[in-house]
Amino acid sequence: MKKLIIGNFKMNTKPSEFKNYAMTFATKTKNSKNDIVICPPYTHLGVAKEFFAGTKIAYGAQNICEEPKGSFTGEVGADMIKDLGATYVIIGHSERRAKFKESDKLINKKIKTALACGLKVILCVGENLQTRNAKQACQFIRKQIDDDLKGIYENELDSVIVAYEPIWAIGTGHVANKRDIAKMAQTIRDEIEHQFSKKAASAITVVYGGSVNISNYKNLLTTEGLDGALMGGACLDVDNFAIIAKENY
Ligand code: PGA
Repeated sequence: MKKLIIGNFKMNTKPSEFKNYAMTFATKTKNSKNDIVICPPYTHLGVAKEFFAGTKIAYGAQNICEEPKGSFTGEVGADMIKDLGATYVIIGHSERRAKFKESDKLINKKIKTALACGLKVILCVGENLQTRNAKQACQFIRKQIDDDLKGIYENELDSVIVAYEPIWAIGTGHVANKRDIAKMAQTIRDEIEHQFSKKAASAITVVYGGSVNISNYKNLLTTEGLDGALMGGACLDVDNFAIIAKENY
């Protein structure tokens, strides 16, 4: 089955290093049947355009400003990344929520700005360990989805991917178990059904992120109800990431 494989570079690599990466990755994944999205830093998007245009690799940014343009020194707008050929943007990554104090309200605004510009949104949601241990993870995720997708029209959901990324699993080597991921994928669909419709719930793309790597990807990507995976650390190794992106699931 075709999967969506997303690589999030975070703040790693320089544009000059990314050139080699992009060239190698494009060659190695030429015959992949999966959908592939690479999200490097903003500074690499020109390189992505150079090497991914005409391939089946899509690319995107890891954030955008909630405002479309104007006096926002240091910010980058949705139509700027689109102009460089980006078709995706990650919004609401837990590192932005925690380290840059992004609220659900701000995330909601960023999603609307991205959709209005014609970008596809990878919305990250995920609970911390305390919430999981308190057995409130499902409730927490439902509320995040409710808040983050407020005011979004059902027909815009075609352009929304929900990435379930438990905070305690990101960059820690601790992956969520398959049963919990399947349960959360179902919870996400239940919440989409509650907010939108049954049709929207079955159509929405749900991926998992958090310590997916070359040794566990096969097992994780066969989880019921899961459409793909988002990888941070693992996408930096071009050989391994190409293997994951090329796999027949
Ligand atoms: P990781 O990161 O794969 O290194 O855990 C995932 C992410 O933060 O998107």
